[in-house]
Amino acid sequence: MTTTHLGRLSDRVAIITGAGHGIGKVYARRFVAEGASVVLADIDGSSVEEGAEELRKKGFQAIGVQVDVRDQGSMNAMADAATSAFGKITVLINNAALFATVPMSRSPFNEIEVEEWDRMMAINLRGPWLAARAVFPAMTKQGYGKVVNISSGTALKGSASRIHYVTSKAGILGFTKTLAREMAPSGITVNCVAPGSTLSEEHPDADTLAMRDAAKSDRAIARVQHPSDLEGAVVFFASADSDFITGQTLVIDGGSFMH
Ligand SMILES: NC(=O)c1ccc[n+]([C@@H]2O[C@H](COP(=O)([O-])OP(=O)(O)OC[C@H]3O[C@@H](n4cnc5c(N)ncnc54)[C@H](O)[C@@H]3O)[C@@H](O)[C@H]2O)c1
Repeated sequence: MTTTHLGRLSDRVAIITGAGHGIGKVYARRFVAEGASVVLADIDGSSVEEGAEELRKKGFQAIGVQVDVRDQGSMNAMADAATSAFGKITVLINNAALFATVPMSRSPFNEIEVEEWDRMMAINLRGPWLAARAVFPAMTKQGYGKVVNISSGTALKGSASRIHYVTSKAGILGFTKTLAREMAPSGITVNCVAPGSTLSEEHPDADTLAMRDAAKSDRAIARVQHPSDLEGAVVFFASADSDFITGQTLVIDGGSFMH
Protein backbone atom coordinates (compact mmCIF):
# COMPACT_ATOMS: atom_id res chain seq x y z
CA MET A 1 0.00 0.00 0.00
CA THR A 2 1.34 3.48 -0.81
CA THR A 3 0.90 6.36 1.57
CA THR A 4 -0.19 9.72 0.22
CA HIS A 5 1.54 12.67 1.83
CA LEU A 6 -0.70 15.71 1.84
CA GLY A 7 1.54 18.35 3.39
CA ARG A 8 -0.27 17.91 6.69
CA LEU A 9 2.71 19.48 8.49
CA SER A 10 3.53 22.30 6.07
CA ASP A 11 5.08 25.32 7.80
CA ARG A 12 5.46 23.37 11.06
CA VAL A 13 8.71 23.06 12.94
CA ALA A 14 9.00 19.80 14.83
CA ILE A 15 11.51 18.70 17.43
CA ILE A 16 11.78 14.91 17.67
CA THR A 17 13.78 13.56 20.60
CA GLY A 18 15.39 10.15 20.17
CA ALA A 19 15.44 10.70 16.40
CA GLY A 20 18.88 9.13 15.93
CA HIS A 21 17.64 5.55 15.79
CA GLY A 22 14.59 3.33 15.65
CA ILE A 23 11.09 4.77 15.51
CA GLY A 24 12.13 8.41 16.05
CA LYS A 25 14.21 8.31 12.89
CA VAL A 26 11.18 7.02 10.99
CA TYR A 27 9.02 9.85 12.39
CA ALA A 28 11.60 12.38 11.14
CA ARG A 29 11.49 10.97 7.60
CA ARG A 30 7.68 11.06 7.54
CA PHE A 31 7.52 14.56 9.06
CA VAL A 32 9.69 16.12 6.35
CA ALA A 33 7.67 14.29 3.70
CA GLU A 34 4.57 15.96 5.20
CA GLY A 35 6.22 19.38 4.85
CA ALA A 36 7.71 19.95 8.32
CA SER A 37 11.13 21.32 9.17
CA VAL A 38 12.64 18.97 11.73
CA VAL A 39 15.12 19.05 14.56
CA LEU A 40 16.50 15.58 15.17
CA ALA A 41 17.68 15.42 18.79
CA ASP A 42 19.50 12.48 20.33
CA ILE A 43 22.19 11.59 22.82
CA ASP A 44 23.99 9.94 19.89
CA GLY A 45 25.12 13.14 18.18
CA SER A 46 26.63 11.56 15.08
CA SER A 47 23.42 9.64 14.33
CA VAL A 48 21.36 12.82 14.18
CA GLU A 49 24.04 14.74 12.26
CA GLU A 50 24.01 11.98 9.64
CA GLY A 51 20.21 11.69 9.67
CA ALA A 52 19.74 15.43 9.16
CA GLU A 53 22.36 15.50 6.41
CA GLU A 54 20.60 12.65 4.62
CA LEU A 55 17.30 14.60 4.74
CA ARG A 56 18.91 17.86 3.58
CA LYS A 57 20.43 16.04 0.59
CA LYS A 58 16.88 15.16 -0.43
CA GLY A 59 15.92 18.83 -0.27
CA PHE A 60 14.24 18.80 3.15
CA GLN A 61 14.78 21.18 6.08
CA ALA A 62 16.51 19.38 8.95
CA ILE A 63 19.16 19.88 11.63
CA GLY A 64 20.65 17.44 14.10
CA VAL A 65 21.42 18.33 17.72
CA GLN A 66 23.21 16.26 20.32
CA VAL A 67 21.19 16.38 23.56
CA ASP A 68 20.71 14.66 26.86
CA VAL A 69 17.02 14.85 27.77
CA ARG A 70 17.91 14.51 31.46
CA ASP A 71 19.44 17.98 31.49
CA GLN A 72 17.46 21.24 31.42
CA GLY A 73 20.38 23.19 29.91
CA SER A 74 20.58 20.68 27.08
CA MET A 75 16.82 20.88 26.48
CA ASN A 76 16.95 24.70 26.44
CA ALA A 77 19.82 24.57 23.94
CA MET A 78 17.70 22.22 21.78
CA ALA A 79 14.81 24.72 21.78
CA ASP A 80 17.23 27.57 20.98
CA ALA A 81 18.69 25.57 18.08
CA ALA A 82 15.17 25.06 16.68
CA THR A 83 14.21 28.74 16.87
CA SER A 84 17.62 29.86 15.51
CA ALA A 85 17.35 27.52 12.52
CA PHE A 86 13.65 27.75 11.73
CA GLY A 87 12.22 30.73 13.69
CA LYS A 88 9.65 28.85 15.78
CA ILE A 89 8.70 25.55 17.42
CA THR A 90 5.31 24.08 16.51
CA VAL A 91 5.67 20.46 17.58
CA LEU A 92 7.53 18.49 20.25
CA ILE A 93 7.65 14.70 19.99
CA ASN A 94 8.84 13.27 23.31
CA ASN A 95 10.17 9.98 21.95
CA ALA A 96 13.64 9.49 23.51
CA ALA A 97 13.81 6.67 26.02
CA LEU A 98 15.98 4.15 27.71
CA PHE A 99 14.84 1.19 25.63
CA ALA A 100 16.74 -0.58 22.82
CA THR A 101 19.53 1.64 21.45
CA VAL A 102 20.55 2.68 24.97
CA PRO A 103 19.49 -0.67 26.35
CA MET A 104 17.61 -1.52 29.51
CA SER A 105 17.63 -4.80 31.37
CA ARG A 106 14.49 -6.92 31.09
CA SER A 107 14.89 -8.27 34.63
CA PRO A 108 12.31 -9.23 37.26
CA PHE A 109 11.30 -6.43 39.64
CA ASN A 110 13.51 -7.66 42.50
CA GLU A 111 16.67 -7.81 40.37
CA ILE A 112 16.67 -4.37 38.74
CA GLU A 113 19.51 -2.21 40.00
CA VAL A 114 18.52 0.99 41.84
CA GLU A 115 20.89 2.93 39.55
CA GLU A 116 19.03 1.69 36.46
CA TRP A 117 15.64 2.49 38.03
CA ASP A 118 16.80 6.08 38.61
CA ARG A 119 18.31 6.38 35.12
CA MET A 120 15.04 5.10 33.62
CA MET A 121 13.00 7.75 35.43
CA ALA A 122 15.50 10.48 34.51
CA ILE A 123 15.38 9.70 30.77
CA ASN A 124 11.79 8.51 30.32
CA LEU A 125 9.97 10.88 32.70
CA ARG A 126 12.16 13.82 33.66
CA GLY A 127 13.22 14.09 29.99
CA PRO A 128 9.75 14.78 28.54
CA TRP A 129 9.03 17.22 31.38
CA LEU A 130 12.24 19.20 30.78
CA ALA A 131 11.65 19.19 27.01
CA ALA A 132 8.12 20.53 27.55
CA ARG A 133 9.49 23.28 29.79
CA ALA A 134 12.06 24.18 27.15
CA VAL A 135 9.59 24.58 24.25
CA PHE A 136 6.84 26.22 26.32
CA PRO A 137 8.04 29.86 25.97
CA ALA A 138 8.20 29.65 22.15
CA MET A 139 4.84 27.89 21.89
CA THR A 140 3.20 30.31 24.33
CA LYS A 141 4.53 33.30 22.40
CA GLN A 142 2.88 32.06 19.21
CA GLY A 143 -0.26 30.90 21.10
CA TYR A 144 -0.07 27.49 19.48
CA GLY A 145 1.73 24.20 19.87
CA LYS A 146 1.48 20.42 19.73
CA VAL A 147 3.15 18.05 22.19
CA VAL A 148 3.09 14.31 21.52
CA ASN A 149 4.34 11.98 24.23
CA ILE A 150 5.27 8.37 23.59
CA SER A 151 4.08 5.85 26.18
CA SER A 152 3.80 2.10 25.65
CA GLY A 153 1.11 -0.55 25.54
CA THR A 154 2.92 -2.17 28.48
CA ALA A 155 1.69 0.69 30.69
CA LEU A 156 -1.90 -0.39 29.98
CA LYS A 157 -1.44 -4.15 30.01
CA GLY A 158 1.43 -4.71 32.42
CA SER A 159 4.43 -6.83 31.59
CA ALA A 160 6.10 -9.78 33.26
CA SER A 161 9.46 -7.97 33.48
CA ARG A 162 11.20 -4.53 33.38
CA ILE A 163 8.94 -2.85 35.92
CA HIS A 164 11.04 0.33 35.79
CA TYR A 165 10.28 0.84 32.09
CA VAL A 166 6.57 0.06 32.44
CA THR A 167 6.29 2.38 35.46
CA SER A 168 7.96 5.21 33.54
CA LYS A 169 5.60 4.73 30.58
CA ALA A 170 2.58 4.65 32.93
CA GLY A 171 3.83 7.97 34.32
CA ILE A 172 3.61 9.41 30.79
CA LEU A 173 -0.16 8.80 30.81
CA GLY A 174 -0.74 11.08 33.84
CA PHE A 175 1.93 13.49 32.63
CA THR A 176 0.01 13.86 29.34
CA LYS A 177 -3.31 14.62 31.05
CA THR A 178 -1.89 17.17 33.47
CA LEU A 179 0.25 18.90 30.85
CA ALA A 180 -2.81 19.02 28.57
CA ARG A 181 -4.78 20.93 31.20
CA GLU A 182 -1.90 23.26 32.03
CA MET A 183 -0.94 24.04 28.44
CA ALA A 184 -4.42 24.41 26.92
CA PRO A 185 -4.75 28.11 27.88
CA SER A 186 -1.65 28.75 25.72
CA GLY A 187 -3.22 27.04 22.70
CA ILE A 188 -1.09 23.90 23.05
CA THR A 189 -2.51 20.39 22.73
CA VAL A 190 -0.82 17.47 24.49
CA ASN A 191 -1.54 13.92 23.40
CA CYS A 192 0.05 10.52 23.71
CA VAL A 193 0.69 7.49 21.53
CA ALA A 194 1.08 4.06 23.13
CA PRO A 195 2.76 1.63 20.72
CA GLY A 196 2.62 -2.11 21.01
CA SER A 197 5.75 -4.23 20.66
CA THR A 198 7.39 -2.84 17.50
CA LEU A 199 10.22 -4.22 15.41
CA SER A 200 12.28 -1.02 15.68
CA GLU A 201 15.73 -2.52 16.10
CA GLU A 202 18.10 -1.70 13.24
CA HIS A 203 19.91 -5.06 13.48
CA PRO A 204 17.58 -7.43 15.35
CA ASP A 205 19.03 -10.73 16.56
CA ALA A 206 17.06 -13.98 16.52
CA ASP A 207 15.76 -13.49 20.09
CA THR A 208 14.48 -10.01 19.26
CA LEU A 209 12.78 -11.25 16.09
CA ALA A 210 11.13 -14.04 18.10
CA MET A 211 9.98 -11.56 20.78
CA ARG A 212 8.43 -9.20 18.20
CA ASP A 213 6.84 -12.16 16.42
CA ALA A 214 5.32 -13.50 19.65
CA ALA A 215 3.45 -10.21 20.14
CA LYS A 216 1.21 -11.18 17.20
CA SER A 217 -0.61 -13.79 19.25
CA ASP A 218 -2.98 -11.49 21.17
CA ARG A 219 -3.58 -8.97 18.36
CA ALA A 220 -6.80 -8.70 16.39
CA ILE A 221 -4.57 -7.85 13.41
CA ALA A 222 -2.16 -10.74 13.87
CA ARG A 223 1.08 -9.51 12.34
CA VAL A 224 4.39 -7.98 13.42
CA GLN A 225 4.23 -4.24 14.16
CA HIS A 226 6.65 -1.92 12.32
CA PRO A 227 7.64 1.72 12.97
CA SER A 228 5.65 2.75 9.88
CA ASP A 229 2.47 1.61 11.69
CA LEU A 230 2.97 4.51 14.15
CA GLU A 231 3.68 7.41 11.80
CA GLY A 232 0.12 8.31 10.87
CA ALA A 233 -1.08 8.80 14.45
CA VAL A 234 1.91 10.93 15.37
CA VAL A 235 1.41 13.07 12.24
CA PHE A 236 -2.28 13.43 13.21
CA PHE A 237 -1.46 14.66 16.74
CA ALA A 238 1.15 17.05 15.28
CA SER A 239 -1.25 18.45 12.67
CA ALA A 240 -4.12 20.92 12.76
CA ASP A 241 -6.55 17.99 12.42
CA SER A 242 -6.19 17.35 16.16
CA ASP A 243 -6.57 20.93 17.39
CA PHE A 244 -9.66 20.14 19.54
CA ILE A 245 -8.20 16.92 20.95
CA THR A 246 -6.03 17.01 24.05
CA GLY A 247 -5.05 14.78 26.97
CA GLN A 248 -5.74 11.65 24.93
CA THR A 249 -3.81 8.42 24.54
CA LEU A 250 -4.10 6.45 21.31
CA VAL A 251 -3.08 2.82 21.48
CA ILE A 252 -1.48 1.51 18.28
CA ASP A 253 -0.95 -2.21 18.57
CA GLY A 254 -3.14 -3.94 15.98
CA GLY A 255 -5.95 -4.38 18.49
CA SER A 256 -4.20 -6.03 21.40
CA PHE A 257 -5.28 -3.68 24.20
CA MET A 258 -8.78 -2.35 23.51
CA HIS A 259 -10.46 0.36 25.60
N1 LIG B 1 9.90 -0.60 19.94
C1 LIG B 1 8.90 -0.92 20.75
O1 LIG B 1 8.51 -2.08 20.86
C2 LIG B 1 8.21 0.15 21.56
C3 LIG B 1 6.99 -0.17 22.16
C4 LIG B 1 6.35 0.80 22.92
C5 LIG B 1 6.91 2.05 23.06
N2 LIG B 1 8.11 2.32 22.47
C6 LIG B 1 8.66 3.67 22.68
O2 LIG B 1 8.92 4.27 21.43
C7 LIG B 1 10.03 5.17 21.58
C8 LIG B 1 11.09 4.83 20.54
O3 LIG B 1 11.54 3.53 20.79
P1 LIG B 1 12.51 2.73 19.82
O4 LIG B 1 11.96 1.36 19.73
O5 LIG B 1 12.78 3.49 18.59
O6 LIG B 1 13.81 2.64 20.76
P2 LIG B 1 15.30 3.19 20.57
O7 LIG B 1 16.01 2.80 21.82
O8 LIG B 1 15.85 2.73 19.27
O9 LIG B 1 15.10 4.77 20.48
C9 LIG B 1 15.26 5.64 21.57
C10 LIG B 1 16.19 6.77 21.18
O10 LIG B 1 16.38 7.60 22.36
C11 LIG B 1 17.76 7.97 22.41
N3 LIG B 1 18.14 8.32 23.79
C12 LIG B 1 18.36 7.47 24.82
N4 LIG B 1 18.72 8.16 25.91
C13 LIG B 1 18.71 9.48 25.59
C14 LIG B 1 18.98 10.68 26.29
N5 LIG B 1 19.35 10.67 27.59
N6 LIG B 1 18.84 11.87 25.64
C15 LIG B 1 18.49 11.88 24.33
N7 LIG B 1 18.23 10.78 23.61
C16 LIG B 1 18.33 9.59 24.22
C17 LIG B 1 18.49 6.75 21.87
O11 LIG B 1 19.82 7.05 21.45
C18 LIG B 1 17.57 6.31 20.73
O12 LIG B 1 17.93 6.93 19.50
C19 LIG B 1 10.50 5.05 23.01
O13 LIG B 1 9.89 6.04 23.79
C20 LIG B 1 9.98 3.68 23.41
O14 LIG B 1 9.80 3.56 24.80
C21 LIG B 1 8.77 1.41 21.73
